[in-house]
Amino acid sequence: MNTRLRATAVGLVVLVLAQIYLGALVAGLRAGLVYNTWPTIDGALVPAGARLFFEQPLWRNFFENALTVQFQHRMTGYAVWLVALWHWLDVLRSRRKGPLTGALPLAVVVTLQAALGILTLIHQVPIGLALAHQGMAMIVLALATLHAARLGAAARRGALAPERVL
Ligand code: HEM
Repeated sequence: MNTRLRATAVGLVVLVLAQIYLGALVAGLRAGLVYNTWPTIDGALVPAGARLFFEQPLWRNFFENALTVQFQHRMTGYAVWLVALWHWLDVLRSRRKGPLTGALPLAVVVTLQAALGILTLIHQVPIGLALAHQGMAMIVLALATLHAARLGAAARRGALAPERVL
């Protein structure tokens, strides 16, 4: 279980970095102004393949098609949120504390960040919300990195022994 907890914490850092990169593509293409409905996008939860992949060659859609880019950012955002919640539950189940207490604040800020992203989108990207969403991403990244680093250090010291905390 220690290995799974550490792997998930590192995986979250990687996912958050990927999500920040995708956010930059969304902002750069102004995709939040073109597709600004939620939970649907372009009239469906999952847009039509023909519209997601209309550009040629295919790979261009992942960088230049505003629909595909925003859809990727949404889906990765949901993935970050689900993994952060699952990781927090995993930590609770493991009955360990100490360096693992970072899982809860991380799950909380990821939840707030996803909600802020949705608000930014449905209000058609006002500058205040867009900046708050951008700034909150730095807090998410900082907490995810600190949490993974603390977990790694604790595991190396052998300090992840089971403890009854519930
Ligand atoms: C953990 C979750 C998320 C993270 C870390 C994140 C991160 C970011 C970042 C860093 C940017 C700005 C990039 C830049 O300006 O260079 C951005 C932009 C954006 N995000 Fe997210 N995001 C998340 C979830 C979401 C969700 C769930 C939605 C909506 C469904 C969303 C909608 C947007 C929109 C519309 C923009 C463009 C704002 C603009 O044009 O300035 N984000 N995101």
